[in-house]
Amino acid sequence: MRRLTLTRPDDWHIHLRDGDYLSQTVKDAAARFGRAIVMPNLSPPVVNVQDAERYRTEILQHVPRSFAFEPLMTLYLTPQTVAADIVAAGQSPFIAGCKLYPAGATTNSEAGVSAITQLYPIFEAMQTANLPLLIHGEVTTHSVDIFDREARFIDESLAPLIQQFPELKVVFEHITTQEAAQFVADQGPEVAATITVHHLLYNRTDMLGSGMKPLLFCLPILKRDQHRQALLAAATSGNPAFFLGTDSAPHPRSSKENACGCAAGCYTAHAGIELYAEVFDAAGKLDRLEAFASHFGPDFYGLPRNPDKIVLEEIPWTAPKTLPFGNELLMPLRGGETIAWRLASQSMSSS
Ligand code: DOR
Ligand code: ZN
Repeated sequence: MRRLTLTRPDDWHIHLRDGDYLSQTVKDAAARFGRAIVMPNLSPPVVNVQDAERYRTEILQHVPRSFAFEPLMTLYLTPQTVAADIVAAGQSPFIAGCKLYPAGATTNSEAGVSAITQLYPIFEAMQTANLPLLIHGEVTTHSVDIFDREARFIDESLAPLIQQFPELKVVFEHITTQEAAQFVADQGPEVAATITVHHLLYNRTDMLGSGMKPLLFCLPILKRDQHRQALLAAATSGNPAFFLGTDSAPHPRSSKENACGCAAGCYTAHAGIELYAEVFDAAGKLDRLEAFASHFGPDFYGLPRNPDKIVLEEIPWTAPKTLPFGNELLMPLRGGETIAWRLASQSMSSS
């Protein structure tokens, strides 16, 4: 049986939600990751330092005693965001970046912006405060085909933004296309991208080709296999511009199995590092996993790498079909199916 010891990884993009949902999401994330960039798309969104500190305190109440999990908080940029919010965020020890949602692009993005240039004064303040900008990179124009929305965003919004703010740290979140991977590879060290494990595992034929699979519906949507292959090449390339961000995004079963509008998001936190190990192993690149999962993220964010380790073992296990989720149930990705790698019990304490 193969064993793999890794510097404890971090998740540079996760949705933990709030309230009763936190007991499941925080337990799963904290068992694997040392830190996580926590998305601010709550309802209402996390828009200032006070909101973020309140949310952080709530998250910390759910961290099991044996872990030293650190939530890295983000602010949600809206048309009402002012430079003073950014200055305060830059001074907060808990805030690691601000998230840009084009209005209407995804779950709880209604409070986002419709004209990105509106936020240019805010990006200026972020550049000065050295606060990274985390971007959901899709255009939202209805006439643009859903499969083309990420590529269009690069030309229409991202390239001009990066040109205008060359010192601003930018993370192109959960990239899904060959074009995005190429664009990021062509930029300097201020631009990076997170890659989810579901976009490495699946393509749009998996989602639609043999009966529609709501559990695979996420945004940006799964693309053709050539894009999955380009993401896999980027993730396993050893290029520090690409690092782990699960985009684990839980929704109750009733919202996923909803004939009239399935909610977008895949829950992967229950196997957040194990699934990446499976993908890297299948590609013959297990030796590249540690840098992708544990080194490149903290290096980009200017934070120390985690001091402790986790151990993965090649022992197949069956993921639970459902998990408790407040008063409802959550259906995790690969529920009821076998996952090739598992977290060893030595990983269970981070002390
Ligand atoms: O699939 C997604 N789910 N994509 C996002 O951008 C948001 C997320 C969510 O919050 O559910
Ligand atoms: Zn997300």
